[in-house]
Amino acid sequence: MKRTLGTCYYPEHWPESEWQRDAARMAGIGLTWVRIGEFAWSRLEPRPGDLRFDWLDRAIGVLGAVGLKVVLGTPTATPPRWMLDRHPDMLAMDAEGRPRGFGSRRHYCFSHDGYRAESARITRLLAERYGANNHVAAWQTDNEYGCHDTVISYSDAARTAFRAWCADRYDSIEALNAAWGNVFWSMDYGSFDEIGLPNLTVTEPNPAHALAFRRFSSDQVARFNAVQVEIIREHSDAPISHNYMGREVAFDHYATGRQMEIATWDSYPLGFLEDRLEDDATHKRRYARQGDPDLQAFHHDLYRAVGRRPGGTQDAPARWWVMEQQPGPVNWAPCNPAPLPGMARLWAWEAFAHGAEAVCYFRWRQVPFAQEQMHAGMLRPDSAPARAYHEAAQVAQELVSLPDVEAGQAPVGLVFDYAAAWAWQVQPQGQGQDYFRLVFETYRALRKLGQSVDILPPDTGDLSGYRLVLAPGAVTLSDPFKAAIAAHDRQVILGPRTNAKTAEMHIPVPLPPAIPGLDVTVARVQSLRADMAVPVAGGGHVTLWLEDLEGTAEVVLATAEDSQPVAMRSGSITYLGGWLDEAALGRFLTDAVQQAGLTPTPMPGGLRRRQAGATEFLINYDPDPQQWNGITVPAAGVVWRARSSHDRG
Ligand code: GAL
Repeated sequence: MKRTLGTCYYPEHWPESEWQRDAARMAGIGLTWVRIGEFAWSRLEPRPGDLRFDWLDRAIGVLGAVGLKVVLGTPTATPPRWMLDRHPDMLAMDAEGRPRGFGSRRHYCFSHDGYRAESARITRLLAERYGANNHVAAWQTDNEYGCHDTVISYSDAARTAFRAWCADRYDSIEALNAAWGNVFWSMDYGSFDEIGLPNLTVTEPNPAHALAFRRFSSDQVARFNAVQVEIIREHSDAPISHNYMGREVAFDHYATGRQMEIATWDSYPLGFLEDRLEDDATHKRRYARQGDPDLQAFHHDLYRAVGRRPGGTQDAPARWWVMEQQPGPVNWAPCNPAPLPGMARLWAWEAFAHGAEAVCYFRWRQVPFAQEQMHAGMLRPDSAPARAYHEAAQVAQELVSLPDVEAGQAPVGLVFDYAAAWAWQVQPQGQGQDYFRLVFETYRALRKLGQSVDILPPDTGDLSGYRLVLAPGAVTLSDPFKAAIAAHDRQVILGPRTNAKTAEMHIPVPLPPAIPGLDVTVARVQSLRADMAVPVAGGGHVTLWLEDLEGTAEVVLATAEDSQPVAMRSGSITYLGGWLDEAALGRFLTDAVQQAGLTPTPMPGGLRRRQAGATEFLINYDPDPQQWNGITVPAAGVVWRARSSHDRG
């Protein structure tokens, strides 16, 4: 497969006289893709029904004429101002009941029928006009669902839709009352029309109510997306995608992923390090100009899973891209340093090492006005090349000689479950308890041991090929996954908090984890203050979360002071009853990797390894060169080589 590069372009921001030169320069440095259109509604339809598509026709023509392939975005993330006069109640509402006002973007409520119809209307106009256009080679629906915390809305439209959703899911109000446990505090409802949204309650709402609302809100995103996908498909054979975000868990990406051919995500490594990770100041300082060594890789692996369509096999690989790649300083994090020289190249190579088809830099030219004027582009506002321009040109050259990288199947599978993230948020049981954090720390520890990892959806029903499968914090295991672990004879690690609740947030009896063949019972759960970590025999600590484990399974990890079990194993299944710190997790996973017949290969500093089919990549996030196995990888550098057949096992 040929890997390609691209950029994000806004013809409506620039004089038409510039387009030709821009297009020629894009093609000249070896870019293939140009994404356009996703925020252009006010220029496509300045007044209701007053359609001005002529400029977009010309822009697509100019870009296509030099051989660029266009990704055309639907502009529904930015409804124009007149839309509010048509649909005054279309605004999303925050948890305090305040409307999310006009003047930036993403102000719509997913549940508003009128806005969904407007979104269908503009999508249809675009699909009819450009569906057969040879230059439009892919589509993007909307832009970054969930960005700026926009999945959940407490509007009237959401309340009405939630009541209908509940009636559909529970059939009778008695069934809903029983499922949620509404007898507690006299919360029983007499009819679906009495159900409110779980905001503005005196103290916390019923967790079952809150979780149902999270499920509903996620379903509303999938429903909104499906309308656009269906319309585009009627008029175009080009693949459809959406650009997801980093550390965004408010909706089930697998559900939208199944609707489209390609999953893409927007990778801003320096911004994410500053504003989306719990790490301490030392870590953030060390990686301030490179980004966290594992966060991009985690999302690449996650979106590879989102891009895998049902029935997809290794023969029909998952399709995924980076749709927006940070080019230089951004404008939105607590501070916005410049990347080290080489990082705009490294980030692209890392994406290819994880199987990306394409990497597009955001954006072509830094725009001198409005909210993102301080955000770098590939060009400066005066059109002189910025650093990413040169680095992208270098990657384009290198791609010519790239070995044929196929992602392959990794030996380690790690479950990521959006519904589990909601369950932890609804009922954290203590500060700092967060599902994404738990899974990401596990991922990072595996990568520090040199392992390549596949992310698995929670309904994975076939684990063949995986030597080690982990499902930390997966609060409710699906039936297909339970059957898959029962049928699997390789190592499986569950816990903490795995299979701890029913789908309606009840504590199940028999008590968790209730895995056949594993005699372990979680008898009690406690969350820990940051300053009361419990030492583990052999080194390291349990932090944040500790379960009391009972049963006859073999104890494989215990507390140092009173030898209480922390992890227990029967056959190939291990249950871990605590949130381990880095030292304890590293030891525990070293043992697990060995048990699985794999070789723990500790990686120095910020050097990471990704084994992709026949190729091994070494990616150095450190500001200094790293040595490994006789190979020197420069600072912010990447090295690749063929894997030996012995190494490929
Ligand atoms: C993304 C978004 C882009 C742009 C970019 C800036 O989240 O999709 O439109 O705002 O961030 O970094």
